[in-house]
Amino acid sequence: MSKHQAGNHLFLVLVAAAGLAVSIATWAEEHNSKADQMSTPERIKQPGWWPTKGTPSRDEYVGPAVCAQCHSSLASSQKLHAMARTSMPAADSNILRTHDRQNFRLGPHTYQIARADNGAVQYSVSDGKQSVSGPLSWAFGTGKVGQSYLYEKNGAFFESRFSYFSTLQGFDITPAHSTAAPESLEKAAGRPVAPAEVRRCFGCHTTASTTNDKFDAARLIPSITCEGCHGPGSAHTAAMKAGIETGAGLISNPGRLKPVNQVDFCGACHTTWWDVNLSGSTGVGNARFQPYRLESSRCWGKGDARITCIACHNPHQPLVREAGFYDQRCLSCHLATANSKPSSDHPGAGCPVSTKDCVTCHMPKVEVPDAHFKFTDHQIRVVRAGAPFPD
Ligand code: HEC
Ligand code: HEC
Ligand code: HEC
Ligand code: HEC
Ligand code: HEC
Ligand code: HEC
Ligand code: HEC
Repeated sequence: MSKHQAGNHLFLVLVAAAGLAVSIATWAEEHNSKADQMSTPERIKQPGWWPTKGTPSRDEYVGPAVCAQCHSSLASSQKLHAMARTSMPAADSNILRTHDRQNFRLGPHTYQIARADNGAVQYSVSDGKQSVSGPLSWAFGTGKVGQSYLYEKNGAFFESRFSYFSTLQGFDITPAHSTAAPESLEKAAGRPVAPAEVRRCFGCHTTASTTNDKFDAARLIPSITCEGCHGPGSAHTAAMKAGIETGAGLISNPGRLKPVNQVDFCGACHTTWWDVNLSGSTGVGNARFQPYRLESSRCWGKGDARITCIACHNPHQPLVREAGFYDQRCLSCHLATANSKPSSDHPGAGCPVSTKDCVTCHMPKVEVPDAHFKFTDHQIRVVRAGAPFPD
C-alpha cells in the first residue's frame, strides 16, 4: 500500500525565489503555521535526528531489548502498539498462516499461498494454463487495515498484487495497483518496486533498514521500535550505564519539539502537510494522512501543544478506541457549555448539541475505497449531512 511521497526539491526551489518566499510568508502569517511546517525530504536534510533518516551507522543502533533494560514499562506497553508489529518476515505472519492453501481469485487469475515444509511461504498465480510461483519475503501491516507482501526476484523487490484486507477477511487488489486485467502472469504476481521506493517502504515500516545511506534488508530491525523514533541509542546507553548524568541529552526526545515540528515528526511516516500538498494528492484517500488533515482544521490555528498527535496518542501505548477518552483533549480548548464566552485559555466555542463523545460527530470515519477501511478524519469540523469530503 505504497504512499506517494512528495517531490523532493519543489519547496526549496520555491522559497529560493525571493518574491515567492515573501508571498508564502505573508500567506502563512495570515493563515497559520504553514511556513514552519516542512516536507519530509527537507526535514531529513536538516542536521540532527529525524525518523526515516538513513545516515547513522548500523553500529549506533542497539535494538529495543537494550532500551528495555532501563525503560521496562515503556518497553512492555510499546510492544502492544500496532507500530511495533507493522512488519515481519512473511514466515512469521499469522494472517498467512491462517490462510494457508486457500485459493482466491482476482479477475482471471487464481492465487494460492502455501507454507513449505521448511517454513517458507510460497505464492503461486495461475491463469488456468500456466502458473508462476516464488517465495514471499516480507509482510507489511498488522492487518488492522490490511497486509501487503514483498518478494524478491533477481535481486529486485516486488509488491504482490494481492493484499489481505481485514474488512473482507480475505484478499483483494493492493491499493494503487491497476484493476485492469494484467497482461502477463508476472504482472499478475506483482509490480517491481524501484530501489528508492523500497527504501521508503522499509523506512516507514522498519527500524535501521537504511544506515550510512545504504539500504540493507539483512540487518534491519522489523517494525517501529524505540530507535525508529528516538534515533540510534548506543551513545545514550553507554553513558547511562557509566552513570554519566548528562547522558539523557544524548538521545532525541520529540517531546521537546515545538508543536509544528512535533506534528511533522510523526508526519515523517504519517505524511506531513507539505508532503501531501507537494504531491498534489486530493480526495478521500487523504484521510490516511492525519498530519495534513489535522493541520487543515480550524482547531490547529497557529499550532498548539494541546492539539499535537501526542496530545491524543501516547506512542508507547496502543491506540485508545473509546470516544470518551478524547473529550478532555477537546475540552482543554473548548468550553463545556454553548453559552459561555471563549477566553484566552479556552479559545474554542462550546457545542450546542452535546457535552460528550465529541469525536463521534466531529472526527467522522470515512471509507477509503481501495483500502476497504474507514479511517478517522483528523480534519476536525462540523459535519453537515450530504456535504462533500472537504479537501
Ligand atoms: C542503562 C540504562 C538505560 C538504557 C539502556 C537506556 N536508557 Fe534511556 N534513560 C535512562 C535514564 C536513567 C534516563 C533519565 C531519566 C528518564 O527520563 O527516564 C533516560 C532518559 C531517556 C529519554 C529522555 C531524554 C530526555 O529528554 O531527557 C529517552 C527518550 C530515552 N532515555 C530513550 C532510550 C532509548 C530509546 C533507549 C534504547 C536505545 C534507552 N533510552 C536506553 C536510562 C537508560
Ligand atoms: C518510522 C515511521 C513512523 C513514525 C515516525 C510514526 N509512525 Fe505511527 N505508524 C507507522 C506505521 C507503519 C503504522 C501502521 C501500523 C500497522 O501496521 O497497523 C502506524 C500506526 C499508527 C497509529 C495507529 C495505531 C492503531 O492501532 O491503529 C497511531 C495512533 C500512530 N501510528 C501514531 C503515531 C504518532 C503519535 C507518531 C509520532 C509521535 C507516530 N505514529 C510516528 C509508522 C510511524
Ligand atoms: C511515508 C511512509 C510510508 C511508506 C513509504 C509506506 N508506508 Fe505503509 N503505512 C504507513 C503508515 C503511517 C501507515 C498507517 C496509516 C495508514 O494505514 O495509512 C501505513 C499502513 C500500511 C498498511 C496497513 C496496515 C494496517 O494497519 O493494517 C500496509 C499493508 C502498508 N502500509 C504497506 C506498505 C507497503 C507494502 C509499502 C511499500 C510498497 C508501504 N506501506 C510504504 C507509512 C508508510
Ligand atoms: C512512534 C514514536 C515513538 C516510539 C516508537 C517510541 N517513542 Fe519514546 N517518545 C516518543 C515521543 C513523541 C515522546 C515524547 C512524549 C511526551 O513528551 O509526551 C517520547 C518520550 C520518551 C521518553 C521520555 C519520558 C516519557 O515517558 O515521556 C522515554 C524514556 C522514551 N520515550 C523511551 C522509549 C522507549 C524505551 C521506546 C521503545 C520501547 C520508545 N520510547 C518508543 C516517541 C516514540
Ligand atoms: C488547541 C485548542 C483546540 C483543541 C485541542 C480542539 N479545538 Fe476545536 N477549535 C479550536 C479553535 C480555536 C477553533 C476556532 C474557533 C471556534 O470555532 O470555536 C475550533 C473550532 C472547532 C470547531 C468548528 C469548526 C468549523 O469548521 O467551524 C469544531 C466542531 C471543533 N473545534 C471541535 C473540536 C473537537 C471535537 C475537538 C477534540 C477532538 C477539538 N475541537 C479540539 C481549538 C481547539
Ligand atoms: C484530538 C485528538 C486527536 C489528535 C490530535 C490526533 N488524533 Fe489520531 N485519532 C484520534 C481518534 C479519536 C482516533 C480513532 C480511534 C478509534 O476510534 O479507533 C484516531 C485514530 C488514529 C489512527 C488510526 C487510523 C484511523 O484513521 O482510525 C492513526 C494512524 C492516527 N490517529 C494518527 C494520528 C497522528 C499521526 C496524529 C497527528 C497528526 C493524530 N492522530 C492526532 C484522535 C486524535
Ligand atoms: C451528536 C453529535 C455531536 C457531538 C457528540 C458533539 N457535537 Fe459539537 N456539534 C454538533 C453539530 C451538529 C454542530 C453544529 C450545530 C449547528 O451549527 O447548528 C456542532 C457544533 C460544534 C461547534 C461549533 C460551535 C460554534 O458556535 O461554532 C463546536 C466548537 C463543537 N461542536 C464542539 C464539540 C465538542 C467539544 C464536543 C464534545 C464535548 C462536541 N462538539 C460533541 C454535533 C455534535
